Amino acid sequence: MESLSEYMERALFNSIYGFYENESLEDHFITPSTLKTRYHEFLIKWIIKNNFRSILELGPGSARFASALKTYSDLSYLGVDRSKNTINRLKEQFKEYSHVSFSNDTVDSYDCIFVQEIFDCCPVNICEYFDDKIFEWMRDSDGSIKKSQLTNSRLEEYAKRLKKSRSISEESFCFVDVEPHQHLITWLFKRTRQYCVIVDYGQQEPQYSQLLGNHSPVRAFRNHQLFHNQWNNPGQYDLTYDVNFTNLSEQWIALGGRVNYFASLAEFLIEKLDWHQIDPFSQERMLFDPRQLGSVFSVLILSKA
Ligand SMILES: C[S@@+](CC[C@H](N)C(=O)[O-])C[C@H]1O[C@@H](n2cnc3c(N)ncnc32)[C@H](O)[C@@H]1O
Repeated sequence: MESLSEYMERALFNSIYGFYENESLEDHFITPSTLKTRYHEFLIKWIIKNNFRSILELGPGSARFASALKTYSDLSYLGVDRSKNTINRLKEQFKEYSHVSFSNDTVDSYDCIFVQEIFDCCPVNICEYFDDKIFEWMRDSDGSIKKSQLTNSRLEEYAKRLKKSRSISEESFCFVDVEPHQHLITWLFKRTRQYCVIVDYGQQEPQYSQLLGNHSPVRAFRNHQLFHNQWNNPGQYDLTYDVNFTNLSEQWIALGGRVNYFASLAEFLIEKLDWHQIDPFSQERMLFDPRQLGSVFSVLILSKA
């Protein structure tokens, strides 16, 4: 048996068969970056307005943001991606642009960091709250889920808080153990000079949609199709879950940082990016539509105190 975070780690990041080592060039579900819109143009205007000079992007993947920055040689951009194949491919693709570079890691700090659809695939464990007890989901070698009871006071407290914040009446629900996000938040805190912009699926805790009865909060996508065998065929599916933004904010504040802004994607585009007119011949409407990306995506801006 293995934990689900161990499974997610190898399914997404294994150096030979991991999904992101092989598949990141394709789009498997719709995000603000994958639509044909002026999204990156507006982000760049915001960067310039704020006088940011150095930009770090965590998980550039297919490098759409970096492509939009090609003509902005006054800005220096580093894309840090865990995938070695991705970094090698992007280094080759952008070799003529000296202000755009890529690496598997960095210790330097940057004016602003962009983290788009990264927390939603950070390997995590799934727990179940039932009868005032916590059970961790484990994966058996055939891909089936087994549940083992935990005595972990941190998780018990967290589950009780989630239950209270949603006024859940159900006897049992599942939730993502957000502890692994702490490592990523600390990494970002050390490397940001001013802002860290997080864009992802998910909401604040009261609407926390990871509490899904007995259904897995982790979803499996491939070619825009949702599959239900997320614990089988490692490397075949992109795995994703809704991010708990309240938790990210709390972890940031605990490090001494400040929450600058939190809103739905549509609000962010209007209020922060000053985007007031939709190009009718593009897919921009989907970014603003509350039934589509406009509200299912949220944006959190964290700053140094
Ligand atoms: C879902 S995509 C990110 C999408 C991209 N940011 C965009 O806007 O199109 C996944 C990419 O992020 C990378 N990635 C995922 N988690 C990461 C992490 N913790 N650190 C660095 N790269 C990561 C993967 O290797 C993959 O190339």
